Amino acid sequence: MGCGLNPFSIPLMGLNKLNYYAYDLSKEEINSLNTFFQFLEEKNDGFWGVAKVLDAFSWEEIAKHDSVDLCFLFKMTDVLDRGRGHKVSEEVIKRIPAKYVVVSFSTKTMSGKGMNFPERKWIELMCTRLKYTYKTLKFSNEIFYVIKK
Ligand SMILES: C[S@@+](CC[C@H](N)C(=O)[O-])C[C@H]1O[C@@H](n2cnc3c(N)ncnc32)[C@H](O)[C@@H]1O
Repeated sequence: MGCGLNPFSIPLMGLNKLNYYAYDLSKEEINSLNTFFQFLEEKNDGFWGVAKVLDAFSWEEIAKHDSVDLCFLFKMTDVLDRGRGHKVSEEVIKRIPAKYVVVSFSTKTMSGKGMNFPERKWIELMCTRLKYTYKTLKFSNEIFYVIKK
């Protein structure tokens, strides 16, 4: 969701079998991804992928989506919340029909420096309140919350 060009890293995932839906608002990026997915399908029998324009604010459409194992919501909560609390991100995470949702945040400040406290307490509190479990994965420039719903 809000995938940008991230799906170009699919070959690095090392998976033999994968069905992948990619969504973003940018038509240009979606067109490039569909071309890439066709290439991957020709090269790998185990891969199927489709990219579509989808507004992450279309909550009803998201809730109606086929169930999936895992949804990536990488560096998207700021786009969704627009500095007004975290209710929008929470609604999206709740409605995504996935067993796991992986939410990531940049750990670099606007000036490019690393953050002293990269964790996002709000998402930890949200998980506790909704009885979701989570694990964190920290890298030099990004922190990932692997949330099990
Ligand atoms: C910060 S980038 C993150 C891209 C990618 N997830 C990554 O980690 O590299 C935010 C992305 O959200 C997309 N976007 C912005 N508003 C959106 C919306 N309402 N619905 C879906 N995607 C949106 C942008 O086109 C952009 O690709």
